[in-house]
Amino acid sequence: MCGIVGAIAQRNITPILLEGLRRLEYRGYDSAGVAVIAAGKGIQRVRAAGKVIELENSLDALPANGHLGIAHTRWATHGKPAEHNAHPHVSHGLAVVHNGIIENHAPLRKRLKDLGYVFTSETDTEVVAHLLAHHYAENNELLAALRATLAEIHGAYALAVIHEDQPETLYCSRMGSPLVVGEGSEERYIASDPLALLQVTDCFRYLEEGDYARLTMNTCEIWDRNHQVVDRPIKRYEHSAHSLDKGEYRHFMLKEIFEQPLAISETLASTLGNDHVLTALLGPDAETRLADVANIHIVACGTSYHAGLVARYWIEAQAGIPCQVEVASEYRYRTVVVPANTLLITISQSGETADTLAALRYSKNQGYLSSLAICNVAGSSLVREADWRLLTHAGPEIGVASTKAFTTQLVALLWLTTALVQVRNGITEQVTNNVRALRSLPDVIAQALTLEPRITLLAERFANKHHALFLGRGTHYPIAMEGALKLKEISYIHAEAYAAGELKHGPLALVDEDMPVVSVAPSDSLLEKLKSNLEEVRARGGQLITFACETIEQTDDANHETIGLPWVEECISPILYTIPLQLLSYHVALVKGTDVDKPRNLAKSVTVE
Ligand code: F6R
Repeated sequence: MCGIVGAIAQRNITPILLEGLRRLEYRGYDSAGVAVIAAGKGIQRVRAAGKVIELENSLDALPANGHLGIAHTRWATHGKPAEHNAHPHVSHGLAVVHNGIIENHAPLRKRLKDLGYVFTSETDTEVVAHLLAHHYAENNELLAALRATLAEIHGAYALAVIHEDQPETLYCSRMGSPLVVGEGSEERYIASDPLALLQVTDCFRYLEEGDYARLTMNTCEIWDRNHQVVDRPIKRYEHSAHSLDKGEYRHFMLKEIFEQPLAISETLASTLGNDHVLTALLGPDAETRLADVANIHIVACGTSYHAGLVARYWIEAQAGIPCQVEVASEYRYRTVVVPANTLLITISQSGETADTLAALRYSKNQGYLSSLAICNVAGSSLVREADWRLLTHAGPEIGVASTKAFTTQLVALLWLTTALVQVRNGITEQVTNNVRALRSLPDVIAQALTLEPRITLLAERFANKHHALFLGRGTHYPIAMEGALKLKEISYIHAEAYAAGELKHGPLALVDEDMPVVSVAPSDSLLEKLKSNLEEVRARGGQLITFACETIEQTDDANHETIGLPWVEECISPILYTIPLQLLSYHVALVKGTDVDKPRNLAKSVTVE
């Protein structure tokens, strides 16, 4: 979603801001802007619709240099993507950037208009700029103006503020949207994601909900929501083996698909014993706490929700624990029945997804045994607010379409299932089987990645298609859902996933020679049933593409192509079969010529509702 960067230093900070924006661009990118202050000069603001490169072009034409500045990439929520809606927004000598949504912007806008403030954008953020200016006019004290403003705005925000009367001070605050303070040598920075600042520091203070701060080159003062001075300790950002550039790859998405063997190895590092899982990973009392779990609710969004759907099959079949899975945007607004001893699991790549975070907060008063966050970002809000954490180590995922985050989430969920079985039944055959299978994953995934040339050819068939069906059964039904989601979001082809047994109850009517039907057909207990479903497609002239185990007999013809994958244990098969579907959607997107890493209308981290 939107991204914020800010800096104060002795040197010109515009290059730091621009590099930060480039690194944040994957979160949201319909417009961008900077505002900087140089001693003796007022606010210099430059904004541009489109990507950060457009802003750079504008800055080439109209340079803006200074020692204090804030910058923003925007993903439109209030007001169309256009230069006049781009941040920073200014009012009477101050400039503001904002992530999130100010829910009471309409009455505030009316009040400020009545007071004579002139609005030049449709954004909720401009309300904050004028409200700050209004309070500043009351007593000429920016900290007091910030406090008064925060007391009046409702909603989610990360805010950064500069004022030309104070060319040495950067103000910021967070509530519901992430914000970190970066520490340099006689320099300070802020950002909505530490990634934006890794070129200048790896030391961060993570602001907590309701915190606000005043930063100069040499000082960092932080207050909590009760206006008490607080110390947020400096933490060193953990670098991983994953680099932050595309390297030899054409797109981040392709790089991230190929990083999966490494991402899975890193996620599994120090989690497995010889024949069992190391439950202590979850804390010293993990065994007793896991043994108490009688029910599980999983809540997540999008791809992370699909990971939860796979886990339900594993948890119920292997651990015998009832499990339900729900999208966070529904869960957070309904009355939930929470049976005794229910564990709430939230799953998120970013750990900042507004709906998932709100679901976790909502769960706090619902009588859950405890909450567990499965997440790829150690310092994220979700991880900090959950009782337990299980981290995936996929490394930064830059492509908007989630790939390695998904497969590492599945790895973490299979590990968790195994831990639940182990604390109940001891080191059973099921446990050792899962452990062996998990260990084999990096290698089998590397084998699946060698299918890329064949999948590249297959992708050509989608060039003129407008629709596609994805079929699967059992744990592979959510994998079909994930395959359809990937195809939709990056190639803009309408795709639907069905549990293959449902085909005859309606969707079969859609099947003709123009409808590609992709099926995920591993050698599992449901294969024979799935084969009958596929015959129903063939009989209607559908273009069938099947991903199946290389050991099964193939009956290909002009309308049916089978791609063989290595045989694996049933428990890890959904992880393996994800790979060719990711490659397929990537190559179809290439054929279609879309912006693979930044598909239209989408943002990486959805920090607004
Ligand atoms: C799809 C995709 C999204 C995210 C969803 C949740 O490729 O990336 O559907 O999975 O927005 O995001 P996280 O996992 O960060 O909570």
